[in-house]
Amino acid sequence: MPNKTKHFFNLQSESTAAKLKFYDLYITNYLFKIVMQFGECLIADLFCGCGQNGDAKGSPLILLDKIIYVLNDPIIKKKWKEPKIIIYFNDKESKNIDGLCVHLKKLHLPNNVELITTCDNYGEAIRKIIENPANQSKPKFFFLDPYSYSAISIEEIKKISALPKTEILLFIPVFFAYRFCSQKENMPQALKDFVSSYTDKGVVDYDDFMDFMGSIVARVKDVTNEFVRPFIIEDKSSKNCLILITQHINGLNLMNDLVWKMTGRKFGGSIKTMREIESEKNQLSMGFVVKHSAVTEVQKKLFSFMENNASATNIDLIHYSSVNYFPLKYANQAMSTLIKEQKIEIRRLDHDNPKSIFINEKYSRRPSRAIFYLKK
Ligand SMILES: C[S@@+](CC[C@H](N)C(=O)[O-])C[C@H]1O[C@@H](n2cnc3c(N)ncnc32)[C@H](O)[C@@H]1O
Repeated sequence: MPNKTKHFFNLQSESTAAKLKFYDLYITNYLFKIVMQFGECLIADLFCGCGQNGDAKGSPLILLDKIIYVLNDPIIKKKWKEPKIIIYFNDKESKNIDGLCVHLKKLHLPNNVELITTCDNYGEAIRKIIENPANQSKPKFFFLDPYSYSAISIEEIKKISALPKTEILLFIPVFFAYRFCSQKENMPQALKDFVSSYTDKGVVDYDDFMDFMGSIVARVKDVTNEFVRPFIIEDKSSKNCLILITQHINGLNLMNDLVWKMTGRKFGGSIKTMREIESEKNQLSMGFVVKHSAVTEVQKKLFSFMENNASATNIDLIHYSSVNYFPLKYANQAMSTLIKEQKIEIRRLDHDNPKSIFINEKYSRRPSRAIFYLKK
């Protein structure tokens, strides 16, 4: 492990860059929404490293940049005079925390940002956060970015996910575990324990990598009873995974949007594709480019959902599209086509703007449309 640590922080791999790009995009959007709504939040980066990843910023410095950016937003400033943000940075290696503190000393953070650095095993860091009563009601985001699949037990994930207003972004280097499943007799015990606790099928022969991933997602869903959304990052030799565990459908939708934007695919994709998308189309900064094959796919799914249910509300369709990992923009476009083709009919349930789109985040709380399947 020491060699791995040295290598990791000296050189940022493309896979790590993609992971941190996603973290950057997700946390920026999260901070905007949560600080705007609640005027406070707690972010815990419990495997934080030393702040630097080769020449690039590591997760702690990315977070602090974004916090400064969000706190300077004129709309947030107008709504909240001093939004309160608490950050926990933890790493079990003291040299990493020392290295991080050197970076932190150079920053000028506003007084309403409270920084707590600890050098503990992650379980102890979680305990300290949970046991502080002041943290109970705050919206909380945990970034868990260990080196190895075996670092975090599923019991800890269950414990954190049960806290009020909590989201978890968990990195699991899954590929090594997947490959070993075909050599069960040689499997190390730590790997057996991981596969047994993190999959719903256990140590069996998996059809392929997606079968293995599906089993992990099913198990994490079962244990946490929350929305669970994977993002697969594929480089030349391996596939790794970020998993979002969230109580809120808006968190799931944000992740759906970002994964499609970064990779043009539902579950994520190769580093090569991400690089091409970012450089050629510049989608990340210029907004959302609709992928037509995905709209067709969600259209088929929504139509068969309507066929099976005869009627539904827009909330049902928002939920259905979200848990199938489609951006709501795609679902909305698909619904427009189904209306034009007279396959469904819409009735308004409220008096809001009749022309407004009805499958979007704003409408995710209350039904505003009834949708009927038209039998031909
Ligand atoms: C992949 S690195 C984190 C990188 C960091 N997110 C970044 O962007 O630079 C994993 C870190 O977890 C730390 N670590 C490993 N096991 C740990 C544990 N049980 N508790 C806390 N930290 C741990 C390591 O020292 C290492 O710095």
